[in-house]
Amino acid sequence: MTHVFAQPLSALPSGPLTGRVTAPGDKSISHRALMLGALAVGETAISGLLESGDIMATAAAMRAFGATVERGTDDIWRVNGLGTGGLLEPEGVIDFANAGTGVRLAIGMAGAHAFATTFVGDASLSRRPMARVLDPLRDMGAEVIARSGDRLPLTIRGADPMAPIEYRVPMPSAQVKSAVLLAGLNFDGVMTVIEPVATRDHTERMLKGFGADITTERAEDGATIIRLVGRPELKPQRVTVPADPSSSAFLFVAGLLVPDSDVTVENVLLNPSRTGLIVTLKEMGADLTIENERQSGGETIGDVRVRASRLKGVHVPSERAPSMIDEYPVLAVAAAFAEGDTIMEGLAELRVKESDRLAAVARGLEANGVTCREGDDSLAVTGGRVRGGGTVATHLDHRIAMSFLIMGLAAEQAVSVDDSAIIGTSFPDFVEQLKRLGADFADGAEAA
Ligand code: S3P
Repeated sequence: MTHVFAQPLSALPSGPLTGRVTAPGDKSISHRALMLGALAVGETAISGLLESGDIMATAAAMRAFGATVERGTDDIWRVNGLGTGGLLEPEGVIDFANAGTGVRLAIGMAGAHAFATTFVGDASLSRRPMARVLDPLRDMGAEVIARSGDRLPLTIRGADPMAPIEYRVPMPSAQVKSAVLLAGLNFDGVMTVIEPVATRDHTERMLKGFGADITTERAEDGATIIRLVGRPELKPQRVTVPADPSSSAFLFVAGLLVPDSDVTVENVLLNPSRTGLIVTLKEMGADLTIENERQSGGETIGDVRVRASRLKGVHVPSERAPSMIDEYPVLAVAAAFAEGDTIMEGLAELRVKESDRLAAVARGLEANGVTCREGDDSLAVTGGRVRGGGTVATHLDHRIAMSFLIMGLAAEQAVSVDDSAIIGTSFPDFVEQLKRLGADFADGAEAA
């Protein structure tokens, strides 16, 4: 799983993209399904699990904690869990490679058990801040030894007993909220998490589905208050993972930008905490329609049809950031082709993703002749003609790689990325799916 060789790749200006396509399973739901499966007693069956580097890291971690995780010949993943509080001390270090969600949620699980767990990751993950999950766990009584700045590698050891806390999440982060809730599963008492700004709620929904006593209430100031009663008996479930809206996003933007395209992306998760990009693209004038909207496993899903459109620049308010946090790189690419300026605000969290995404996007745009202005937590992109012809540094960031490959399909000249292998962390058949729709790629860095 370790990322050894970089694979440069170029996306070439392409003819119309047409057809139906399905993005792989949602990454957030896939991580959580494996984790809650490991904490339930009995067999959880997961269909549509994302089979990517990040999720395989979580599968391996759950095995290291003693759960059985297997893929059947019917493509269904079966997890035999140990019950809340039943994790076993891992024999070796747990390597989460590139997976920020995986490691942060697993730190929450491990930190509530009275044994030592050591986590490592790749160069990208080892640069990312872990204090955001370690601090609340320390408040609950866990002990941590970490590299300076609370970075990986780190070791966490839970105490016995530990106490639940009331935690106000200081930054908009579903990972932090989820780490605290997962820790709370293993204590007597009620864990309270207050979210001033709502973020994706898959952990809450899935905990409820697995039988936990969890409630959500809206406070007068608009904050969300989540209360979880500790030590529930989680019941194994059948989970169907819908397609990831954050991966589908690349297909939407490709269909909108490549002239004469008509693409339908099927089974897309339409949870309102994830649909900020769809709202924004529509404001930009995208011909984007949702068809066959339906309910599946407690979530709304639908097929999203996009037809090539002339986009116009818009102002994207900071309140929308949590519902489209992973989509800014590809939105910036869409903005480069739009008429006028697109201003995106409230982007501080982009600086601590798999790369400093704000800087990586700005450099990528500039390398392809697009004018932009990078603020501390904002980005302004001046749209129009996109020359292309640049090679973009991806910094071990899958979404930077995919975003600029989409740019190359619609720019005047090819766009290259210095590494496409990293795409395997979230969307292993990205290139294949796009080729099937009519996109052209060439191995190596073609661009000047
Ligand atoms: C995720 C939460 C977001 C997102 C990440 C997945 C999750 O991170 O960027 O890709 O599954 O909880 P933050 O919680 O850091 O915003």
